[in-house]
Amino acid sequence: MLRRLYHEQPESFAYTPANQAWAEGQISKYPEGRQASAVIPLLWRAQEQEGWLTKPAIEHVADMLGMADIRVLEVASFYFMFQLQPVGSVAHIQICGTTSCMICGAEDLIAVCREKIADKPHVVSADGKFSWEEVECLGSCTNAPMAQIGKDYYEDLTTESFTKLLEGLAAGKVPTPGPQNGRYASEPLSGLTSLKEYDSGKTQYNASAQLATDIGDTIKRIDGTEVPLLTPWLGKNATSGKASPPKPAASGKPANQQKAAKKAAPKKTAAKAPVKTTKAAAAPAATGTAKKPRTMKAARKSGADDLKQLKGVGPKLEGVLNGLGFWHFDQIAKWGADEIAWVDDQLSFKGRIERDGWVEQAKVLAEGGQTAFSKKVKKGEVY
Ligand code: FES
Repeated sequence: MLRRLYHEQPESFAYTPANQAWAEGQISKYPEGRQASAVIPLLWRAQEQEGWLTKPAIEHVADMLGMADIRVLEVASFYFMFQLQPVGSVAHIQICGTTSCMICGAEDLIAVCREKIADKPHVVSADGKFSWEEVECLGSCTNAPMAQIGKDYYEDLTTESFTKLLEGLAAGKVPTPGPQNGRYASEPLSGLTSLKEYDSGKTQYNASAQLATDIGDTIKRIDGTEVPLLTPWLGKNATSGKASPPKPAASGKPANQQKAAKKAAPKKTAAKAPVKTTKAAAAPAATGTAKKPRTMKAARKSGADDLKQLKGVGPKLEGVLNGLGFWHFDQIAKWGADEIAWVDDQLSFKGRIERDGWVEQAKVLAEGGQTAFSKKVKKGEVY
């Protein structure tokens, strides 16, 4: 299949401060002149942050690594671990369709995808939650047929267990990865015939499934809404409480088209689903009563803050914010719900202030800037 950049692209890309610090750490692992070796981890982190790889993200990574844009695009378009178009907000399902899986029922799993998600691969489901594709062998042939979802493998699937899996995901559950038929790992279905002494003292799940379960980040959410660990400023121990309410169906339109429809809709007044945050990170709920925040004619003599450190703020958006009279993190940190509503009205991408958590990030950055933020990341005080 042709892997091309999606026909609609956002204006800009920037790593969150925490991801920026992480990316710089990755680059520092390589000797001078070999920074390009960090291309895959940097692309992967960009995808984890945004859900898919946008053109601005690819260009941003190219800039960071001193590579030509086309070289990074070559990597992004070669590996099917990278998604070049919007994906489902809950999960992108990759069904292995190679020999072992095909013989053991991959086509039946694909039929479930066609019925439950969308008739064609790479099309986001009507409720915006899922997308799917068929991929080549994922190296789990002894547990065929299987699917990769997020970072994990779900193996020994049947149409029934796969359907149940999808239903669980849609309901906000995180199913346990690994074999779905009671097998521990890849031993014979009838049980171990040798090396039986190694059958004792094992963990509840096989090593891979156990690690995924212990980490608890098996289904990576895309925009930070449904998996709070992607939201660095929430703190390491923050939990989402409940999953976000289902997004409204958008007739199979991809996420960014749903955003466009949202843009035309009247301003919503409801707050997001309850999200437990640290005290410092508690965000004001939107009320929809627009009130202009205090602005400044110019930056202070000490110089403007680098607003591009806020998630989703690129050079263009930074210029817009400066034009509106916002130059410093402490200005943004003071925005309440009404001020957010006012600023939101001035931006072309509505809803991103709350969605990307600008106020929470600005509070942290205003306290001590990027250096302090990076230190907090290292100490595990923020993720
Ligand atoms: S054939 Fe499906 S994992 Fe190898």
